[in-house]
Amino acid sequence: MIKNTEIITKLIIEAKEKAYKETSNEPEPQLVQKEIKWPIQCTVGPGLEGAIACESKVGYVNGTKGWLIYRGYDIFDLAAYTSYEEVSYLLLHGELPTKNELKKYKETLTKFSFLPLTLRQLMNFPVEEWNTMAALRVGTNIMRQILTYRDKDIDDIIKSKNIKVIGTDEDSIPMETMPMGEKRAIYEFKHNRDKLIKSKVVLDEALGIRSCYHLIAGLPTITAAIARLRKGSLPIEPDPDLSIAGNLLYMMKGEKPTPIEERIMDVALILHADHGMNASTFASMVVASTLSDIYFSIEAGIAALNGPLHGGANERVLYTLEEIGSPDKVEKWFKKAREEKRKIMGFGHRVYKAYDPRARILGPLAEFLCKDHKEVRTLFKTAKKLEKMVISTLGKEKKIFPNVDFYSGLVYKALGIPPEMFTPIFAVSRVSGWTARIIEYLKHNRIFRPRAIYTGEFNKKIKKRR
Ligand code: SDX
Repeated sequence: MIKNTEIITKLIIEAKEKAYKETSNEPEPQLVQKEIKWPIQCTVGPGLEGAIACESKVGYVNGTKGWLIYRGYDIFDLAAYTSYEEVSYLLLHGELPTKNELKKYKETLTKFSFLPLTLRQLMNFPVEEWNTMAALRVGTNIMRQILTYRDKDIDDIIKSKNIKVIGTDEDSIPMETMPMGEKRAIYEFKHNRDKLIKSKVVLDEALGIRSCYHLIAGLPTITAAIARLRKGSLPIEPDPDLSIAGNLLYMMKGEKPTPIEERIMDVALILHADHGMNASTFASMVVASTLSDIYFSIEAGIAALNGPLHGGANERVLYTLEEIGSPDKVEKWFKKAREEKRKIMGFGHRVYKAYDPRARILGPLAEFLCKDHKEVRTLFKTAKKLEKMVISTLGKEKKIFPNVDFYSGLVYKALGIPPEMFTPIFAVSRVSGWTARIIEYLKHNRIFRPRAIYTGEFNKKIKKRR
């Protein structure tokens, strides 16, 4: 098993060099300006195509050339040289963290990643039967209710350093070893209830940066718990020594990832973190613009991301590749799909009319993982054949190219993640972009309220009805 994670950095730099050869990275003048004088003119098509909703420093998608930038940094460089924790900090605060800032930020994320009471309440629901994104929304809502009042206990436990990571022993009770039996019941229902009443937790925390940290740290824990509950296992608490990427794999699978697996998951989280005013980001910003709170806004983002035209495509790409079956069957399948005018999952984009830079990195990562995962190898070869067919036809006719979802599912499958968890993992990462853009927009908030052109009738009279 290859141990050195440097090989991943090398793959990313090679992808960057290939991109630099095939395209250029200059900004589109009409979409990049130093200062905007509102109101502005824009030509708007159905689905708000072309509409400019706000200004932003968080990130920029160059659709014509296929480039992605977070806070001025090229996505290839961020994937090659930083971590998801640094990128989520960058998106929220505008600069990469100093060593000390990163240390403090990671301590806060670790604290917020322990959600014992949230998980206990989530486990009251038949999560194993639910759509995974529905479960993620409920988990986010429970986080909002609890606002970590009890999870704040975790401070003392971490401080006293007597925290011990409970292993994958299924009988282990999430969190610190609780009293059992009658004593446990008193602890749970009396101790906590009193604390809740005394806690006077005010919900205005639910609009601030702490809530963003809470969500960035908590969504991985909830996502992993959903994955475990779906296979009949108890949730595992995070290991404070692992990164968000490492813990996501550890808490889902019950075993520590290899350095390579952790690095690849970290790159995937970096690539999915932000992407301009996509549907789920816009949905979360619309809710936030009403001054509803960040938890509700993130729940709206999760709901929008679920759709197969958006974040739900990654799971469906895998099903498409399995439906095709093998590279030699691609041609016949593609011909039929075109006759049926099917939307091919993982291709096309409202903004990119060029190869999605994220797919430029995820493709080689999927290929790299094939070496040790032969069940992905046939799927990858099928994907490469399909990509070639689509680019040589739809690519030429309609500028339809692979998007971020085309290879991400193959990477996740090779990492041992079930397909129904692919979109929740997208949300685990995108919560950084959602919260960053919400915080930025709330600084000069104005409720989103577009108009519609009325094409209905006038002056209709009500005939006698009673
Ligand atoms: C994501 O916005 C973001 O930034 C999203 C995202 C992010 O990081 O947040 O990048 C993540 O959501 C990626 C997209 C994942 N979705 C898919 O892979 C689903 C398949 N893709 C399509 O449904 C479509 O490409 C969209 C939804 C992504 C974009 O749709 P648009 O911009 O509304 O384009 P359209 O549906 O109007 O299509 C324009 C033409 C049509 O042909 P005509 O009617 O003009 O003849 O292109 C065709 C479409 O039929 N077309 C496709 C196609 N996508 C567009 N034809 C076949 N297969 C496809 N995938």
